[in-house]
Amino acid sequence: MKRSVKFSKVNRKNALPGRSVRASRTEMIEVALPEDANPLGNILGGRVMHLIDIAGAIATHRHCHRQAVTASVDHLDFLNPIRVGELIVLESQVNRAFTTSIEVGVEVFSENFITGERKHTTTAFLTFVAIDQSGNPSLVPPLIPKTHEERRRYREAGERRKARIAARAKRTN
Ligand SMILES: CC(C)(COP(=O)(O)OP(=O)(O)OC[C@H]1O[C@@H](n2cnc3c(N)ncnc32)[C@H](O)[C@@H]1OP(=O)(O)O)[C@@H](O)C(=O)NCCC(=O)NCCS
Repeated sequence: MKRSVKFSKVNRKNALPGRSVRASRTEMIEVALPEDANPLGNILGGRVMHLIDIAGAIATHRHCHRQAVTASVDHLDFLNPIRVGELIVLESQVNRAFTTSIEVGVEVFSENFITGERKHTTTAFLTFVAIDQSGNPSLVPPLIPKTHEERRRYREAGERRKARIAARAKRTN
């Protein structure tokens, strides 16, 4: 059966109630430890990516209330290092829900708890796909953006999705 047909039927029968952005919003804080650092005392990019995946997954689960897998992570730039002893602050929320996938935004900051100074490390956009017990994609609740900022993120997530789909089609052709 064509995928769009399958989901449009399910949609009509079992439309899920919409959820607010607030329901998924998450703040995760870790201490930057020496075992996660390079010899210069800067936290490894791979460690930050691991934390981004977890912060994104928590926001996803809060939104969907079901199992989900990471389908993709968009391009990442590390703007400022995180030093050993600083706090790693990750703020995540669902930007938009599609049919079985959602886009989550994760902003990462370093925070010096002595001076209180915060620096932006990176912003990541991840796509998670909700799955059923057989591992097949399953419907996600719609997102209801309320504030101006939430509507902006919702709109931009739609643009990024178009770009991802086009890039994927290019890679697979
Ligand atoms: C992600 C996964 C479930 C998609 O399965 P699939 O059979 O290709 O699913 P479909 O083609 O029907 O697409 C399902 C949804 O995923 C989205 N999707 C699939 N691959 C994607 C990708 N690479 N990037 C962004 N979205 C993707 C589709 O756009 C679709 O979204 P929609 O329903 O909201 O329109 C499957 O590829 C998978 O299980 N991957 C491994 C995930 C994993 O284990 N991650 C942890 C790291 S190993």
